[in-house]
Amino acid sequence: MISANDIHKRFGSTEVLRGVSLHIDKGDVVAVIGPSGSGKSTFLRCLNRLESIDRGRIDIEGETLVDTDAAGACRYAADADSRRICRKMGMVFQQFNLFPHLTVLQNVIEAPVTVKGLTREAAIPAAEELLRKVGLAHKRDAYPSHLSGGQKQRVAIARALAMEPDIMLFDEPTSALDPELTGEVLRTIRQLAEEHMTMIVVTHEMAFARDVSTRVIFMDGGEIIEERPAAEMFASPAHPRTRAFLNHLA
Ligand SMILES: Nc1ncnc2c1ncn2[C@@H]1O[C@H](COP(=O)(O)OP(=O)(O)O)[C@@H](O)[C@H]1O
Ligand SMILES: [Mg+2]
Repeated sequence: MISANDIHKRFGSTEVLRGVSLHIDKGDVVAVIGPSGSGKSTFLRCLNRLESIDRGRIDIEGETLVDTDAAGACRYAADADSRRICRKMGMVFQQFNLFPHLTVLQNVIEAPVTVKGLTREAAIPAAEELLRKVGLAHKRDAYPSHLSGGQKQRVAIARALAMEPDIMLFDEPTSALDPELTGEVLRTIRQLAEEHMTMIVVTHEMAFARDVSTRVIFMDGGEIIEERPAAEMFASPAHPRTRAFLNHLA
């Protein structure tokens, strides 16, 4: 569903992604772990074109988002195609990014109405269903400022799902939450995994990575150092840098 090949990205003189390749099949739940600054967020953001790459190729569900020609120039799909391809992916950020002036329900229907062109009336039933799914039907008319962090993040998940993505990208979805609120968000993501949603989850929650993901990727210094089935990665990491990282957390 996602094929990223030899992705390079620099910010100024810093090479942040140094040839990252990753292949994701339908139903995969891939956890991405690694130290701060290793390029995890940048990689996710490159997949859905929140950042543009300098070199490499990305295919999403068989369509080429970007490729690099023989002269080394990156060529993105035309804007309308790029947008359509990127809409196959929903993204959830550490900082929720809800619209503060809109209610919970308005947040969830905003993209279906403005991007997909649904009427409000047509968008509301699916939005209500998603709010039930994340356990927040009763907060439908609340504003984000009246919600806990865990509730905000569950609204953000419902909002991403409202666009009916085939793939969900999560960038440290629980890192901004108080510890007692991470569980409710992780349960929601786990439920999506059980429904076989294809997902990439950048996370520091190692128990979650071990229990929910099909594969774990360890990134360090802008590279994928190790990629293994979850059980193996935690029981017997092969690379010394992975071992050092996991030991440091233990
Ligand atoms: N927009 C940006 N401009 C300049 N440097 C950036 C930008 N975004 C990220 N970086 C740098 O890229 C590196 C990787 O960052 P990031 O992808 O956020 O890592 P991670 O998510 O693994 O913590 C860091 O050194 C960070 O400072
Ligand atoms: Mg990050």
